[in-house]
Amino acid sequence: MVKMGGDPTAMTPCADVQATASMGIMQVVTDPRTTLAQSLNAMLGAELIDVASWELLASLAEDAGETELAGRFLGALAQEQEHLAIVKGWVTLMVSEGAGSPAV
Ligand SMILES: [Fe+2]
Repeated sequence: MVKMGGDPTAMTPCADVQATASMGIMQVVTDPRTTLAQSLNAMLGAELIDVASWELLASLAEDAGETELAGRFLGALAQEQEHLAIVKGWVTLMVSEGAGSPAV
């Protein structure tokens, strides 16, 4: 961020929206009425956003000629893809074992 002239501590309008959206996921997960399947479904959404965001950042860095930075972002993307696969596996297992649809 600093290398590209940005301020990593700045609360931009986009960062503010993301913080609000993240609070929604936390509210779902911490609500005592939420089932485990529903919590995992909320986490699945968060992981999908993580993957899409790192893909976009890596693409933007590559387009800007920041090859080294793009490589680091691709490393983060690989980690998020692993998180996504794990959470998706848990959701699939819960649904297939009849724990209830996370959408209900
Ligand atoms: Fe993640």
